[in-house]
Amino acid sequence: MKILVVGNGGREHALVWKLKQSERVEKIYVAPGNAGTADLAENIEIEATDIDRLIKFCKEEKIDLTVVGPEAPLVVGIVDAFEAEGLKVFGPNKAAAQLEGSKVFSKDFMKKYDIPTAKYESFADAKEAIDYIKKEGAPIVVKAEGLAAGKGVIVAQNVDEAVRAVEEIMVNEKFGEAGERIVVEEFLAGEEATVLAFTDGETIVPMIPSQDHKPAYDGDKGPNTGGMGAYAPAPIATEELMAKVYEEILVPTIEGLKKEGITFKGVLYSGLMIVDGEVKVIEYNVRFGDPEAEVVLPLLKNDLVDIIEAIIEDRLEDVGIEWLNQTSVCVIMASGGYPVAYEKGKEISGIKEAEAEDIIVFQAGTDFKDDKLVTAGGRVLGVTALGNGYQATIDRAYEGVKKIDFADAHYRTDIGAKAIK
Ligand code: AMP
Ligand code: GLY
Repeated sequence: MKILVVGNGGREHALVWKLKQSERVEKIYVAPGNAGTADLAENIEIEATDIDRLIKFCKEEKIDLTVVGPEAPLVVGIVDAFEAEGLKVFGPNKAAAQLEGSKVFSKDFMKKYDIPTAKYESFADAKEAIDYIKKEGAPIVVKAEGLAAGKGVIVAQNVDEAVRAVEEIMVNEKFGEAGERIVVEEFLAGEEATVLAFTDGETIVPMIPSQDHKPAYDGDKGPNTGGMGAYAPAPIATEELMAKVYEEILVPTIEGLKKEGITFKGVLYSGLMIVDGEVKVIEYNVRFGDPEAEVVLPLLKNDLVDIIEAIIEDRLEDVGIEWLNQTSVCVIMASGGYPVAYEKGKEISGIKEAEAEDIIVFQAGTDFKDDKLVTAGGRVLGVTALGNGYQATIDRAYEGVKKIDFADAHYRTDIGAKAIK
């Protein structure tokens, strides 16, 4: 079969890498892809949100299945548009994607269906938000309602910082329309984990739990990023906790959506905060995480095409999903200065040398310039190692990182440390 993968990050490279292992797949296209996906598939120059051109491409090339990586096309309704044209596509529809597309929707939804989450209020008026912040005090969390590439959340340590965040988002319109409304919520102190789940809207199959590292610097310092590294499985998500996540979060989410007349098909991402063995939802996403995909997909034993087809055809319950009994660690190598200001176009060397040691290098912000591989984004590479035991796997991932070089490369040196502590 012929598959189109939509997106251009490390997650999409991981999806292509996994789909390519399927004997059922003849050819993969990626729109728009990156230098890494160009090695395994054919990149086509169509942006991920250019739905009309993507539909035209799928019809002309007789694409059998489209797999959508990022949230932006899902939130604007790529799945509805494809289905209306009779094209097979993997991901939630526009109504279901509101779980990620609107933090006001998702918080109100959680409240309505008793899904544990931080206490909050939503605001369309900056002054009211500021009054509320002054009343509640800090630490407190300010969130732009809409999509902001993982940067629309400010965890404010004091009231001034929270007030500035409200002004940036609502008055200076830093995130445009995405900040017309905001959520202000209670700060939760605990440890985070990510639980991705496959679902056809009826059956829910959680994947191996993982943990992202959002802040830019070691020790969880600095501004939040899209994610600086990940590992799986996350030991904090014990069997007992996973049972709680299933019963208190996943089932009520899928059942609650059903009551709203919404069927969720695809990958549901629950970003969790674990406080003294209790679990709360920090956010939902409606797709694989990035970098979580770069640690979870390499552990999946099944043919991903089989799972995707079963979800589309409402028969996920018939698929036995199996995982490698191994550990997986991904260290993100980013451009120096990310997530604020950084330069592009730096030549990258050493990927072949890392791959020769069985390291998987997923590319994110990469491109070719004069036949050379260069940096082209904030997060540049995801360097993944599989192994047995956390420390050994962490060491292997960092051995991979050390083989790779580009000017001003920045990476955290403590990815996975929480698994050991
Ligand atoms: P989100 O995009 O909603 O996942 O938020 C990004 C990051 O901000 C999360 O991964 C957390 O590290 C942090 N965060 C968000 N909400 C809260 C909260 N209520 N309490 C503490 N940290 C939070
Ligand atoms: N790793 C966080 C995300 O994918 O949103």
